[in-house]
Amino acid sequence: MKQIIIGNWKMFGLTYQVKDLVTKLLSGLKQFSPQADIVICPPATQLSNVASLIHGSQIALGGQDCQADDLVTHTGDISAEMLKDIGAQYVIIGHSERREIHHETDAIVQTKTVQAQDWGLIPIVCVGETEIERRTGAYRDSVKKQINEGLPDDFNGIVAYEPIWAIHGGMSASLQEISSMMQIIRKELAKRFNRTTAEGIRILYGGSVNPDNAESILSLEGVNGVLIGSASLSAEKFLAIIRSSV
Ligand code: G3P
Repeated sequence: MKQIIIGNWKMFGLTYQVKDLVTKLLSGLKQFSPQADIVICPPATQLSNVASLIHGSQIALGGQDCQADDLVTHTGDISAEMLKDIGAQYVIIGHSERREIHHETDAIVQTKTVQAQDWGLIPIVCVGETEIERRTGAYRDSVKKQINEGLPDDFNGIVAYEPIWAIHGGMSASLQEISSMMQIIRKELAKRFNRTTAEGIRILYGGSVNPDNAESILSLEGVNGVLIGSASLSAEKFLAIIRSSV
């Protein structure tokens, strides 16, 4: 399965910073032939700017969230239809920061995923356990629950495993932890969906991925790509990670 490298920019950046970063990325990508699909997910304010900058390139555009119901109008939210309209092909759904700060439940994640699919977007659904769940051994059940309750029956997207304790901390999960979770997630998907669907779902790892650990993570059996936060804000680091794809 072709790997996919996704940059989640979160609240980066200002117009001049975005122009600078994308220009460097595009020029870096001319130096080699990437093995993987590449996606960047800027904040809503920069979607239009990034869409113009990457037009005609091999970088695809993604949103960081979409509204659960496009029939209701909500202050501050954007719909899957609006993302599609601006040229996005992907959307991140259920990132742990949204689950925690915006109180997004698995039911909401599922509704948003349906919306995204209905508008022809590829949802990147994030799942992952807290530090306490990891320490107490509840992490497997927590992730399985997010898969079973957060994904719709006709799921046709990407699952990103991001252990919350590994985000931003600078320390990723160990290769063994990642490997074992990839297997658990793959098995759970196989139980939940038919074989063809389950086998076609790309499973990514996210959480402190950087140029130093990317190669070993991307070489692990069952890792179909990575979701990157901070390291995606440096053209040099993001390009180095793209070069590590297999
Ligand atoms: O969605 C990606 C993110 O949560 C991981 O962030 O900064 O640990 O790569 P970071």
